[in-house]
This record gives sequence, structure tokens and C-alpha cells, in this order.
Amino acid sequence: MSSESDLSPLDPAAFLAALPIPAILLDSQRVVRLHNGPAEATFLKIRKGYDLSATLRRPRLLEIVDSTLKTGEAASCRFEWGSDPAKTFEADATRISTAEGDFALIIFLDITQTLKVEAVRSAFVANVSHELRSPLTTMMGAAEALEGPAKDDPVGQERMLALMSQEARRMKNLIDDLLSLSRVESQEYIPPHQSVSLKSVLEGARERLAERAAKRGMEIKVEVETGLPPVSGVDDELFQVFDNLIGNAIKYGSAGSTVTVEARQSGSLALISVHNEGPAIPAIHLPRLTERFYRVDKSRSRELGGTGLGLAIVKHIINRHRGRLDVQSSDADGTTFSVFLNFAQKG
Ligand SMILES: Nc1ncnc2c1ncn2[C@@H]1O[C@H](COP(=O)(O)OP(=O)(O)OP(=O)(O)O)[C@@H](O)[C@H]1O
Ligand SMILES: [Mg+2]
Repeated sequence: MSSESDLSPLDPAAFLAALPIPAILLDSQRVVRLHNGPAEATFLKIRKGYDLSATLRRPRLLEIVDSTLKTGEAASCRFEWGSDPAKTFEADATRISTAEGDFALIIFLDITQTLKVEAVRSAFVANVSHELRSPLTTMMGAAEALEGPAKDDPVGQERMLALMSQEARRMKNLIDDLLSLSRVESQEYIPPHQSVSLKSVLEGARERLAERAAKRGMEIKVEVETGLPPVSGVDDELFQVFDNLIGNAIKYGSAGSTVTVEARQSGSLALISVHNEGPAIPAIHLPRLTERFYRVDKSRSRELGGTGLGLAIVKHIINRHRGRLDVQSSDADGTTFSVFLNFAQKG
């Protein structure tokens, strides 16, 4: 590996080998003189003694290398490499001048993940703006009606005020959910240590939602296996999980049916399932349900006061608990959300 060490008293081969990211050293003719392990692992066909274009046929990359060698000015470019999945690299080229001539050092940063995070972030901002804009537009319309057409119409005024308060509540729900999501996200890497009784969490959620269920002629049944040990978790967060899952079962299940919540031991884990009757969630939607703002039927969910953040919050909480969430749905059997949690350590 050190046969090229005469290139510099600093031993460039050892220097390149120490870099944790792909790096290639070219001579002034653009011929590969050195490369490190990560470069070999990424650009499989890279060979010493060949023009860079023999391996990395990316016109923009070759252009910046040529211009850096010529002008001495550092340059960078982005290009895609590989498939399944393709990665995006940022290549940074710098000229190194020595007594033996000019060389170009190229280092490659894998920016795939950074770009993905950026895309998610900007889609999130667009979604939040859109979700806040719709109720605001309705409220502005209602305010205009109060100033104009409904000015001397008490019935119209009452309707507009009711509309404004409904839309204001929708905005408050959205902001509460956003705050909840950001709190949960910021704690995702801190494992919880409380010992939590599933029975009290599930009974608590049932109590809070019983009235809402009754309004749809529905009943919530909670069955906890006798002697089921406590799980490891955070009380409030687990309450939020089942409040949302049971809330969804009430919102999207068939009117007049029963929502069944069961908790039991499954292997070394606790399994809590929330089941409702009703039309299936089409299979193509299942993998995306926990994305922020994802709703199968946008207008239906909105009508029911949903923000599409509930399952995103659920997923983050379960991740924090090192648990798992599964969904099964069919027209014949209805929909079941299953949550797997770890039991609390004894003693
Ligand atoms: N039990 C269920 N049956 C059928 N569809 C469901 C069920 N649970 C969730 N969904 C679908 O998944 C979507 C996302 O659920 P999620 O809880 O994230 O949002 P939401 O209920 O619309 O709003 P939020 O929970 O923020 O008030 C829902 O809009 C609905 O289309
Ligand atoms: Mg929900």
C-alpha cells in the first residue's frame, strides 16, 4: 500500500487510507494514482493507472477535475451513482501542487440522506401551511359574511360564528398535535423506564372515549389477560397511543359495532390489539399510514376533525418504546392495529 509513498513525505497512501469516505488522487493527466478502501467499495471498477473517465463516467465530474487541475481553484459537483437505491454524491476536487507536478484530490460525500431529510422537511412545511390555510380561509370568509350579508341576519350570524369556532378548534387540534409530535420526536432516543400497567392505561382510554363511541352507537370492550405483567414505558405516552388507536377505530369503524381492545402475552412481549369492524383500508395505503398528514380519505378524515398526525405520533412513541406496530385489514375481518411492547424488568 505504501509503494506510492515517494509522492510525498507525508505518505499519501496512508493519508488516503485514513479517510473514512471515498477519496481518489489523480495526476495532472487525470490518471488515477491512488484510491482508498471506501472509494473501491463505492466505485467498484476503479483502477490505478487508468483515466478517471474509465470508472466514473460523469461529464460534470470530469469537467470540475479538469478545471481544478488547470486553474488551481477548488470545485465541486453532485452526481448520482449506483442503483437500488441510487445514491447522490457531492464530489469536491482540490489541486495539490508538488515538485513532481500537479495532482487532484477528490473526496466524495454521500449526501443521499441529507437530501432526503431536506425533502421531508420542506414537504412538512408545505403540508402544515396548507392545513392551517384552509381553516383560516373559511374563517376569513365567515368574518366577511358577518360584516356584510349576515349583518342584520341573526340566523346567518349564528351559523357563521359556529363555523368560526369549529375552524378555530381544528387549528388548535393541529397545533396541539404538532407540539406533541415534536416533543415525542425530541425524546425518541431516550428509552423509557417506568413500569406501566396496561389495564389502567386501556381502561383510562376507554373511559375518555366511551361517550364518543356511544354517539355512533358503538361500545368499547377492553380485555386484559389476568396476571399480565406491567410493560416498560411512559404512562402518558402509552395513553396517547391507545387513545389514538381506539379513537380511530371509533371514527372509521362501522356505526353500531363493537371496538375490541385485547392485551395479552405473546412470546416474550406484550401484545395489545385494537380491532374494529368496517370496510378495509386498501393494502396500498397500509405502509404509508404512519406518515405525517397521510390520510386514506382526506375529506372524510377532515370532516371528522382529523389532522392525519395521530398515527405519526403513535409510531414515534412506539419507536421510543422499542416496540412494533402492525396493521391488518380486510373487509371480512375489519381492521386490527397490533402493538408489541417490552415487559418492565423485574426488581
Ligand atoms: N381503524 C381504522 N380504520 C380505517 N382507516 C383507518 C383506521 N385508522 C386509521 N385509518 C386511516 O389512517 C389515516 C391516518 O390516521 P391518523 O390517526 O394518523 O389520522 P386521523 O385520524 O385522520 O387524524 P388525527 O388522528 O390526527 O386526528 C386516517 O385518516 C384513516 O384514513
Ligand atoms: Mg387518528
